[in-house]
Amino acid sequence: MYKIFDTVDEVSRYTAQRLRDIILAKPEAVLGLATGGTMEPMYARLVEMLQTSPGDLSRLTTFNLDEYIGLAASHPQSYRYFMGRHLFDKLSLTPERVHLPDGLAEDIDGACRAYSAAIQAAGGLDLQLLGIGSNGHIGFNEPHTRFSCRTHAIALSEQTRRDNGRFFNDPDEVPTHALTLGIQDILEAREVLLVATGPGKAGIMAELYRSDADEALPASALKRHPNVTIVMDSEAAALLPLGSDPTPGSDPAPHGV
Ligand code: F6R
Repeated sequence: MYKIFDTVDEVSRYTAQRLRDIILAKPEAVLGLATGGTMEPMYARLVEMLQTSPGDLSRLTTFNLDEYIGLAASHPQSYRYFMGRHLFDKLSLTPERVHLPDGLAEDIDGACRAYSAAIQAAGGLDLQLLGIGSNGHIGFNEPHTRFSCRTHAIALSEQTRRDNGRFFNDPDEVPTHALTLGIQDILEAREVLLVATGPGKAGIMAELYRSDADEALPASALKRHPNVTIVMDSEAAALLPLGSDPTPGSDPAPHGV
């Protein structure tokens, strides 16, 4: 299902509301979380919503999608730091229930296997939140990653390193490698919410709309998932075939993703 809104704020509210609804309906929910510019306004909304109608967050479990290899938690561009700043430091979560891949692990392969196993041991993801890279990556699963992959280390593409250079003082500081949840892990989530905003995502969202499931476009794996919502603002949806002026909250593809 596609949901298209006029503004980033409406996208953020819709997405935050979905997360909030799950958290309130199921206090022991297991959420798969994402980082990135798209998520910043959404987490701000979620924090507002949870502060005005707080539920019991102590039993909530979270697993983040990815982490750079080689950045300590104290590095301002590590994803652990991002999550603390935008969400975790503002909510009363139980620290042992908050998980990110360990980009400093000595045994990377062991840490990756343990990460996917921990998700399964927690009962699986109730919802996986995703952004999308301008090359179609989800998590850091770059084009041509096998759909059957579980958590693994990956070399970041030049396009991804260029895109993420905006967050670093010097674009050369963007790590070359990361750990990411695999596409198979993502597909096992009971619900997936993919969020795309801004004109920089218009090209890839039109490609995704047209594409069949194809490992050249990682996000197209979601075509094999039965419960996906793709939430966009009008700029990200501008090149979708049904026109550049979609009705807010509309669904241009009633037949699904
Ligand atoms: C981040 C992640 C990435 C981002 C994607 C879009 O945890 O998994 O796939 O969602 O790179 O990033 P932004 O939102 O910065 O455009």
